[in-house]
Amino acid sequence: MDKTSMLYQDMEDELLITRDRIAERIRALGEQITKDYADGNLVCVSILKGSVFFFADLIREIDLPLTIDFIQASSYGDSTKSSGFVHIKKDLDRDIEGKDVLLIEDIVDSGRTLAYLKTMLKERGANSIRIATLLDKPEGRQVEMEADYVGFIIPNAFVVGYGLDYAERYRNIPEIGILRPRVYQG
Ligand code: PRP
Repeated sequence: MDKTSMLYQDMEDELLITRDRIAERIRALGEQITKDYADGNLVCVSILKGSVFFFADLIREIDLPLTIDFIQASSYGDSTKSSGFVHIKKDLDRDIEGKDVLLIEDIVDSGRTLAYLKTMLKERGANSIRIATLLDKPEGRQVEMEADYVGFIIPNAFVVGYGLDYAERYRNIPEIGILRPRVYQG
């Protein structure tokens, strides 16, 4: 995608994280996860929709015989603020009892989505549950939540790209930038 494209115009000029930095960090995370799960029964779960690009890139850097599944939980709607209410839109297809579940997220903000999912999946008898997130926004935290694998810690700004949206747009930008306030302030 060309940097002069319409989508890039809605982001601040200086990108927060370029595609090269994303790829480099994902390689390192994949290496670490490969070591940590060498003896595990790994199921990688993509939390739809924001994590799809991170998920697809990360699992291809994990050198283990893993399986994949998808879950969709939503707390934002079309707003830039979390509603605080987590709702399951699509559940996992397979049973996770006895499995080592790695939940793969694009961003941990308030922490509510992951806190909810972790509790829910623990009750289903997973052997272990860990979290890999591309972005961590600690200033947004409303509940205690710490990811096990973090790509980048980011400031308290509204970011889009590489799967992250505003009102379902901007997910297809291949890097991460800060959305210009004029976009959501009308
Ligand atoms: C976003 C993001 C995380 C969650 C993080 O999902 O993908 O799942 O919010 O926020 P939290 O830590 O405050 O819970 P969203 O509900 O917007 O759905 P999406 O992935 O389809 O964009």
